Amino acid sequence: MRVWRQRLQTCCVILWVAALGAGAQATQTSKAGAVAARPHAATTRPLVAATPPMGWNSWNFFAGKVTDKDIRDTTDLLVSTGMRDAGYVYVNIDDTWEGKRDAAGKIQSNEKFPDMKALADYVHSKGLKLGIYSSPGAQTCARYEGSLGHEEQDAATYAEWGIDYLKYDLCSYGGVMRQQAPDDTSAQNKLMRAAYEKMHQAILKTGRPMVYSFCQYGDDSVWDWGPSVGANLWRTTGDISANFDRMSLIGRSQAGLEKFAGPGHWNDPDMLEVGNGRLNHDENMTHMTLWAMLAAPLIAGNNLTQMTPEIAAILMNKEVIAIDQDTLGKQGSRVYAEGPVEIWAKPLKGGAKAVAIFNFGETASEMRGIRLHLKEMGFAGAVTARDVWAAKELGKVKDDTKFTVPRHGVVLLEVR
Ligand code: GLA
Repeated sequence: MRVWRQRLQTCCVILWVAALGAGAQATQTSKAGAVAARPHAATTRPLVAATPPMGWNSWNFFAGKVTDKDIRDTTDLLVSTGMRDAGYVYVNIDDTWEGKRDAAGKIQSNEKFPDMKALADYVHSKGLKLGIYSSPGAQTCARYEGSLGHEEQDAATYAEWGIDYLKYDLCSYGGVMRQQAPDDTSAQNKLMRAAYEKMHQAILKTGRPMVYSFCQYGDDSVWDWGPSVGANLWRTTGDISANFDRMSLIGRSQAGLEKFAGPGHWNDPDMLEVGNGRLNHDENMTHMTLWAMLAAPLIAGNNLTQMTPEIAAILMNKEVIAIDQDTLGKQGSRVYAEGPVEIWAKPLKGGAKAVAIFNFGETASEMRGIRLHLKEMGFAGAVTARDVWAAKELGKVKDDTKFTVPRHGVVLLEVR
């Protein structure tokens, strides 16, 4: 009996090590914020980022001005607004937290972040997790200290502080690649992969589960190789900004990438700009819907100290979040496009589908001459539909049922 138990334990440890080696980092989380570093059984351990990560990041609103106080205020507001309970659990500090290195080469936070460990403890005490940012280059994009030559040391420091998520941004490493392999794109890409793998191994060595977020703007079709070097998510494009043109261009450009996403590894069309000023009500709903259809990470980027009830309702719509977080883990695909009108479908667990009719155009659309394309989605005849944003059952819907889709707006259905 004892021999068998021992064999079983050994087998589980081997399985766990194999899973780590494959980039499928395992985590043991009893409640948000309490993450145990040591494994005990491969089969009972959920995957890191089994569903697209949800949280908040400082860059889109605070950019280089973010401080310890902003992170604490945001932490408090994630709790008091209900966002934490809606699923937004990662509080991610983006660029500009970094200070200099001490004599031993250990990274220090700068004067805006007096005590990173204390900050992590605070965030954890509220049932949330803390994310941080670095670069494989010597400098980050905002020209702060990067991790080049200090990868293991930095990962160990993050683990010591209690960091749960790392966004790793190529930035100045592009210069290293060009310098080391001038005019040889293939050699440069190898260097890039090696740099991401190096930090992956460094994170594994800490034994602390961390979501590993690649930010290299989709270069070298990262979706092809990111998961094999540990990516839980990878940016697919350059930076988003808070305007409809940029947001919708990025969202629409994800068509075709659906086959690369799944539990533990997600396409990342960048962080949300919902509530960041220049998007109107319909545009914010389009943004949220498109990201949910894409099974995209939902990393809010707005200033929570000024969040209006309208924005809170969009970010915390339970049914829309459930579409994004559906455990089947399928990214939606574009079924049909005619000019500014696009119809996307996302398979959900249990056989239902989320169907979004987007109107990226400048005037409202009545869908004249446009079918829903239910057959192409795999439905034989009429379906039963629910209008998700209106929270209304629509009863039977047929292929030629028409919806009015506002300018820059969307109709989101759940169809079965
Ligand atoms: C790059 C990234 C952004 C942000 C900034 C910080 O531009 O794409 O998301 O992290 O760097 O400097």
